[in-house]
Amino acid sequence: MRAMAYDTYGGTEVLRETRLPLPKVAPGEVLVKVRCAAVNPVDWKIMAGGLDSLMDVVHPAVPGWDVSGTVERVGIDVPEFAAGDEVMAYARKDYVHGGTFAEYVSVPVRALAAKPASLNWAQAAGLPLAGLTAYQLLTRLGTAADDTVLVHGAAGGVGSLGVQLARALGARVIGTASPRNHDRLRGLGCEPVTYGDGLAERVRALAPDGVTVVADFVGGVLETTLAVLAEGGRHASITDHTVLGAGGQWMWVRPSGEDLAALGRLSDEGRLTVDVAATFPLSELGAAFALSQEGHAAGKIVIEI
Ligand SMILES: NC(=O)c1ccc[n+]([C@@H]2O[C@H](COP(=O)([O-])OP(=O)(O)OC[C@H]3O[C@@H](n4cnc5c(N)ncnc54)[C@H](OP(=O)(O)O)[C@@H]3O)[C@@H](O)[C@H]2O)c1
Repeated sequence: MRAMAYDTYGGTEVLRETRLPLPKVAPGEVLVKVRCAAVNPVDWKIMAGGLDSLMDVVHPAVPGWDVSGTVERVGIDVPEFAAGDEVMAYARKDYVHGGTFAEYVSVPVRALAAKPASLNWAQAAGLPLAGLTAYQLLTRLGTAADDTVLVHGAAGGVGSLGVQLARALGARVIGTASPRNHDRLRGLGCEPVTYGDGLAERVRALAPDGVTVVADFVGGVLETTLAVLAEGGRHASITDHTVLGAGGQWMWVRPSGEDLAALGRLSDEGRLTVDVAATFPLSELGAAFALSQEGHAAGKIVIEI
């Protein structure tokens, strides 16, 4: 099969297009024929060696954790899925080796869910990692209809899903983004504010009593979070471990077919959609990573196989 892989840590220059044997399909796994695979910043952070102390990377490593596609065949004892099923997954395994930027990927059943009819292939690939991150953070903080939620990084892959999920939970949502993204965020039901100097005052102007939940999807904003959080408020970050010393939670998204199915249902109910900022062919994965590294994509960057 065709795949993009790297043999050593580095920047986009270490990526090469290659041919690899089809992945093995262990008991409890399915082989997915990839239609689309979405880029997440963690893909190029791992490639650069940034997670070397946390996870083994077995070379040649095919990066990529997000996928949409059809089930090609199932492994031993997989009654839940059959060949031809349309699926999506946050296909993270315990080590990095056979990722989703390839024609085929094997995925543990615990990570799979049916592709919602309401999303096209590119959108369905963009949903799992980012959607699960936002969903698991907001539910862990007990977000509910009486909350006012501040989303740091509201325009990004995780943030734009976080805004919609907080709205679906009934909360009021204030989100930080640069002005060019404000109209898009209003369309998602969010009150946008510009980040940078004076952010705490701008949030206070909208929520004089403070916000009850802060979801940090950017990092470097703890001071603002603490300045705008109401007494008894809850906060968590996906990028900044220093929140642990300030009463916050540091979140790492977990694969969950069950949570992903819940996101699929919300999408089919018309309460959640995925903005695709750009698509690239497999051979241009390096360009897709470079765009992600700029840090200002308005939604998901997706590879079409
Ligand atoms: N711990 C976990 O489980 C987990 C899971 C997923 C992601 N992450 C991490 O979370 C971060 C975000 O991921 P992502 O996929 O959402 O990335 P992304 O889609 O690349 O985020 C890009 C967005 O960030 C916004 N942004 C940049 N600087 C900002 C700032 N100072 N304040 C507010 N918004 C800002 C940009 O908005 P503008 O264009 O308007 O500036 C852009 O829309 C990454 O570092 C990623 O590695 C962690």
